[in-house]
Amino acid sequence: MRQSLVMGNWKMNGSRSEGLALANAIAAGLKDGDQGIAVCVPYVYLSDVQGAIESTPLALGGQNVADQSSGAYTGEISAAMLKECGCTYALVGHSERRSYYGDTDESVATRFCQAQKEGITPVLCIGETLEERESDTTFAVIDRQLNAVINMAGIDALADSVIAYEPVWAIGTGKTASDEQAQEVHRYIRQQIAAKSQAVADKIQILYGGSVKPDNAKAIFAMPDIDGGLIGGASLDAESFLAIYQSI
Ligand code: 13P
Repeated sequence: MRQSLVMGNWKMNGSRSEGLALANAIAAGLKDGDQGIAVCVPYVYLSDVQGAIESTPLALGGQNVADQSSGAYTGEISAAMLKECGCTYALVGHSERRSYYGDTDESVATRFCQAQKEGITPVLCIGETLEERESDTTFAVIDRQLNAVINMAGIDALADSVIAYEPVWAIGTGKTASDEQAQEVHRYIRQQIAAKSQAVADKIQILYGGSVKPDNAKAIFAMPDIDGGLIGGASLDAESFLAIYQSI
């Protein structure tokens, strides 16, 4: 049985005090022994949030990580820096990074490896655009994004990572993939991994992301290949985020 995981991605939202209040409110809603819940917060709030959630079950993640380990890379944040700020996770390849900031399959794979070098669990985000879905290339896109990482890191590296399937057309649009649509792609991802390593396929957590809300989370999480969620908008409200976590 795979441990489930519900992860919030705050993106570029909230003030410093709001972030701190949100982290405190989420942590206050958890009890000892809870696990499988994390928030990915803006870099500049990591230290504050780290202090607030220390000795609570809430884990911390960065929203990206540099593809280099240190040096003259203005504006970048390394995996070692994330680790020092208490991160155990880092998103890599979020579709907003891929589409607005030029992150490529190759640079995403490099970021994935950098995170693992520091013992940070990379959360590899993959997913198709609406145009790609409508032209029936969803699986080809998934293959391309997944194989870029497998080819660079090796299949066994995936055992210490998380995959988030986020159809781009469902992000922030209020349009969720149907439970079956999501399950179909999750099953496909797991099968592709199983073809290379059944052990890794059995172990890896595959999260769904895209307009997950308290009222649709339960049905999505009930799907056999969906191990949790990567939550954007609804993670900015402690009550909604906790309700989603409790839907697992
Ligand atoms: P929404 O939940 O706001 O659709 O965002 C999903 C997402 O992109 C999480 O990384």
